[in-house]
This record gives sequence, C-alpha cells and structure tokens, in this order.
Amino acid sequence: MKDLLNQLTIKEKIGQLLQIAPFFFIKDLKIEVAGPVEELNLNEEKIFNAGSVLGIGSAEEMMDVQEKYLKRSRIKIPLIFMADIIHGYKTIFPVPIAMASSFNPKLAEICARVSAIEASTAGIHVTFSPMADLSRDPRWGRVVEGFGEDPYLIGEMVKGMVKGYIGTGINHPGNLASCVKHFAGYGASEAGRDYNTVDLSRLSLYSQYLPAYKKALEAGSRLVMTSFNTIDGVPSTVNKFLLRDVLREKWEFTGVTISDYDSLKQIMAHGVAKDMEEVAYKGITGGLDIEMASSAYSNHLEKLISDGYVDIQLLDEAVLRVLELKRDCGLFEDPYKGASTKLAEELVLSAEHKLASLEVAHESMVLLKNDGVLPLSKTSKIALIGPYASSRATIGPWSWHGRRDLHETLEEVLKEQLVFCKNDVLITNYTDSDFEKIAFADVVILALGESEECSGEAHSKSNIVLPNKQDLLLKMVEKYGKKTVTLLFNGRPLLLQGLLSTNALLECWFLGSQSALSIKEVLYGKINPSGKLPMSFPRSIGQIPLYYNHLNTGRPYKGPNDHNVFVSKYLDVENKPLFPFGYGLSYSNFEYSLIKLDKSIMLDNETIEAKITVLNNSDIAGYETVELYIKDHFAMISRPVLELKQFKKIWFEPNECKEVSFIITKEDLVYINSDGNNVLEPGTFTLFIGKSSDQTISEHFEYVIKK
Ligand code: GLC
Repeated sequence: MKDLLNQLTIKEKIGQLLQIAPFFFIKDLKIEVAGPVEELNLNEEKIFNAGSVLGIGSAEEMMDVQEKYLKRSRIKIPLIFMADIIHGYKTIFPVPIAMASSFNPKLAEICARVSAIEASTAGIHVTFSPMADLSRDPRWGRVVEGFGEDPYLIGEMVKGMVKGYIGTGINHPGNLASCVKHFAGYGASEAGRDYNTVDLSRLSLYSQYLPAYKKALEAGSRLVMTSFNTIDGVPSTVNKFLLRDVLREKWEFTGVTISDYDSLKQIMAHGVAKDMEEVAYKGITGGLDIEMASSAYSNHLEKLISDGYVDIQLLDEAVLRVLELKRDCGLFEDPYKGASTKLAEELVLSAEHKLASLEVAHESMVLLKNDGVLPLSKTSKIALIGPYASSRATIGPWSWHGRRDLHETLEEVLKEQLVFCKNDVLITNYTDSDFEKIAFADVVILALGESEECSGEAHSKSNIVLPNKQDLLLKMVEKYGKKTVTLLFNGRPLLLQGLLSTNALLECWFLGSQSALSIKEVLYGKINPSGKLPMSFPRSIGQIPLYYNHLNTGRPYKGPNDHNVFVSKYLDVENKPLFPFGYGLSYSNFEYSLIKLDKSIMLDNETIEAKITVLNNSDIAGYETVELYIKDHFAMISRPVLELKQFKKIWFEPNECKEVSFIITKEDLVYINSDGNNVLEPGTFTLFIGKSSDQTISEHFEYVIKK
C-alpha cells in the first residue's frame, strides 16, 4: 500500500480521511441541508477525493455512488461504505441491553452474523458496532445500545458481536469490518446526560471502562470510533493519551481511528480549539485518522503541512491505515463487494433470519417476578391493556432499516385468547366499562413501558419512572381482583416499585422483529425465560450511580440489622437495588449445593477447580446461568466486594442435576491499577457462585507466591 500512497497528491491523501454522506456524490439526491452542508465548504474536487461514505440505503445507491465516484477519481481508490448496524439490518434483533440479559455471547454472534449477511448486500463494508460503553447510570439514554454495568459481561458480548460481523474474514462478501465505539468512557457522562462531561479516575478508566474496548480489538475490530466526551479535560477525539499512548503504544492497535459525527469540529465547543485550523492540527497530531461529517482536514491540513506545523508523516500514517483497511476489505479487487439486489431479495428478512431473531429474543427476557401465574394455561382468557398491547414499535433505537409495518403485535399473536384489548398509555382514557370487561378474563396482561424514543442517542431522562403513571393501570385492574402479568418494554432500568404487586413481571426490553411471538411463547411456557439483569434496577434515582461491583468503603452498611448510625447508607432508602445485577427467575427451580475446591491454597503456577452441583428441582426444562464472582480481600488498593469473572449458561432437563466446574486461573485474580498495569497480589480470596450477584454460595482460598 505504500507504493499506492506515494502516488497520491497531498489533496488525495487528505481526501482519504474525509467521511461524508452519500448525497454529496449524487446531485439529484442532494438534500439541501442549510447551514451544515454549506459550512463544510466542500467543492467538487474535495468531495470526489473523499475516502469513505457514512450510511447507505441499498445496493443500487451504493453502486451508483461508487460508479460516479470512480469515474471522477484520478487514482480510483474505491470508497469504503460504513453504517450503523447495531442490532440488525432489516431483520432486527433485541437491543444490545436485552441481548446482554441473555448472558449468551453466542446470541450476540448470531445477531452480528445475520446483520453482516443482510447489510453487506447493500454494499456496506463497516459497521459502527459493537458499542462497548460501560454504564452505571440508567438516566443515560444510550444504555439501550450497550451491554450493561459489568466489564466482563460487556467484553464477552462484544467479542461475540465482533466474531459475528467478521465471519470468515472481512475480505469476503457477506462479512463486515467492525468499528468498536465510543472510545472512551462515554457511558460515564455525568448525571446520565448525553454528551455531558466525563470525569473518571485513571483507576476507573483502566479497570472498568477500557477493558471491553480492548476485548473488541483482540477479537478483530479494525476501527475505533472516538467518543463525544472529554477524558482528563481533553476531548477523546483529539486525546493523545487515549489515541496514541493507550491505543497505539499500550495496545499496539494498527487499525483506523474515526471520529464520531462532527466530534472533531466539536472540540471548538469544548473550548480546546479556537478555529477549524486548530481543530485540524489537534486532530491529526492527537491521533485521529478519519474525520466524520466535518471538514477541518479537507480545508486546513494541506496548509498546516506546507507551513511546517504538521509533519506529513502523520498524514501518511493515517492514510496508509485507511488504504490497508480498504485492501483488507477486498475493495481493490471489487469496489462493489457484497452489493447485490438479487442477494438482498433472497437473504434480507428471510425466514431463517427471522427465526434467528426469535431465538435471540427468547433468551433476552428477564423474569423479575412470578407467583406461579406464569406460564399461562392454553385456555386462559386474556384481557390485554396498555400502550404496548397493539404496538409495532418494539424494535428500539438504531433500527433504521427495520420494518415495523411487518411486525406482529401482541394483540395479533394473542387474538385467540383475548376477551378485551385496549392500547392506550393514559389511565385517564380508561373507563369503568373497560375495566368491567376485564371480568370475563382469567388474567390481565398489562403491556407497559417507555416509548422507543425515550432511550437512545440524545434521549437521556432525569427521571426513570414509568411514564404517564402507567403503574396506576395495575392498581385499577387489581380492584377487580384479577391476576395480572405485567410486561415491560423499555431501553433502560426503570423505577418499578409501583409494579411490585403484580403477580408476574417480565422485562421484555425491545426484542426486535419477533418481539410479540417471542413474548407469547414465554407467556405460555413454550420457552422458559432465562435472562439475567446486565444492569442494576435502582429503588430511587438518588442511588445512581448504582452498581454491584462497588467498593466496601471504610464504613460499610451491613444491612437492616446494622443499627450503627455512622455507616455508608441513606436515611430514606436501602442501599441495595430493587433488582440486582445478574438477577433473573425461571419457570424451573434451580438449587445449588456447596462449592467444592480441589485445593484451598493456589500456588503461583497453579489453578483451582471449583465444583458446584445444580439441581433443576422442577418438571420444567430450562437454562440456568451459573455466575462466578471473586473478591480480593486485601490489596494495595481497595477492591470491589465482588466481581463477575466467569459464567456458564447450562441446559437442564426436568429434575436434572449437573455438576458445574469452573477453573480459576491467576488471570481471574488480576486487577488493573491506575497506571493501567495488571497487578496480582498474594492473599485471601473468596469465590462466590450462584444465580445472581446477591444469591451466591461462597468458599475461600489463598493465593500464595512461593519465595
Ligand atoms: C452518532 C452516534 C454514533 C454513530 C455515528 C454515525 O452520533 O454517536 O454511535 O455511529 O453518529 O451515525
């Protein structure tokens, strides 16, 4: 690629670092976007030197843009097409926070695999996924796009996604290169307000927020998208510590860095650049390769280099990485790689893909409460009420090619059993006669939640109560003495105290194209729910940030029997979440035996085997996710009260008993310190194994380093 690089003029080199929307290349599609488009100051030469395209809608459009571009290009380096395929292309899968609930990385891989097959028929080569942002704040709208609060779970799900996108290799049609985002620490936006300041200690950054991005790179992500926020007061998009020290030096990343939408230009709003010339200078010297949607490089880099402020080597390095990405995506062999209208007709929304989406949805629901009302009997007569009774809007944010019009509603899939159905969000729109009709039902299903627009980018909320006092619907229904099943459709943890009296509570999140059918199959027991929460559900907004792997503090509160005043607690609410990380019920009843360790002292070069017996003490087959946590009792720094280190999702036949074995290695005992170094200290550790972060059996062992 260096030979090709050396053939480029400086304008052509700079062009390779410009990413713009497709309409720039197709005049008749040009959407007159006043302001931003004019400000870009992109003339024909700059446009037809651009290196990549943001978003494309079909194979026809992609081929039209590529053809027009190559016709005009002197050097004929193909455009590379990138887009947001977050949880499906047209066959939509559960939102990432729902997939995280499955605790099954294989399902993330399946979602990504299907996404790649479908998206590549439109000529897309790179997806801006997975989103590996850890978040401990459900007020942040983008928790819906991530995999929760735990670095290990996020890392496992992210690895699954990257593996699924890459498939047999990014050079083959039907596969996508992956761009992990948003680097770094975006999920720590203060007060959960999107695009807000992030102020993280190096310890938190290294030990909690960075590991999942690294897992994505180790799995093969070829691009890293920078985040809108600052780290140490420096916007990530121009942050040398992140983009050069961590990414290039420490992690030896050789792929491409790309800004988020306009995030390079936005460093002026951050107050770290006074004009676009300084924006361009800080970008290229900070370590940013591709500039998305703004044009600082196109308009200022050439002069910065000719005036000697920027070494052309920085430009060459960035352009070479882009050329290598295009080479590895096979674009020099076939600039139209993957784009095929015929294949799109065959593969997109195929029965096989819909079935895959259904199967992922099955495992993405979390049963939060069940007094035995579920599973329903086949003859149960149902009254279905609430804003999601007849809604097709159950696929969640970033489903831009999704086809809601093709999706079934709960009302449609439950029609044989329905005696009454009302799709309304306002309690004031319900009359006594509505509730009287409920008298003919055996059970009332309330389909409640937030709209899809309540979460996602730029959709943070200061309060996370159920909108429109929907929990009053439950109170009204209970007056008629009916059993209730409450379904929740939401993209974030909500405050659920008002729903605790329901007989069964099923967290459905946004389950994608097959949402209604998957829920029906869980309600009637064809599928036994197996999801576990990837984020804590708080009792109060005031508890946030709330997460399971917290430190003990110097004055730990030991619970309701601890009457010591001077301990870390609130006067008005318990410390514990309403529903904890890793929690989720099943129709089965799983019982755990005591842990058996093959040794109680682990020497430096040894491992420990931990065994536990799990019994499915029921006549219903199902999955159980056995979670393994570790606590490091004494170290140079305070360590979390427990941390997820492994999990196994295991199938049990009725009344089946299985011995589950985990091998503990010293990697499970390592922590990352504030210098970003792995540290392993001898001492006492406790192993916790169980069905939730707050329901475990424990055993101690010593890790000893022999002198
Ligand atoms: C958006 C999002 C990012 C997305 C990008 C391109 O602003 O922050 O996640 O990939 O723009 O659409």
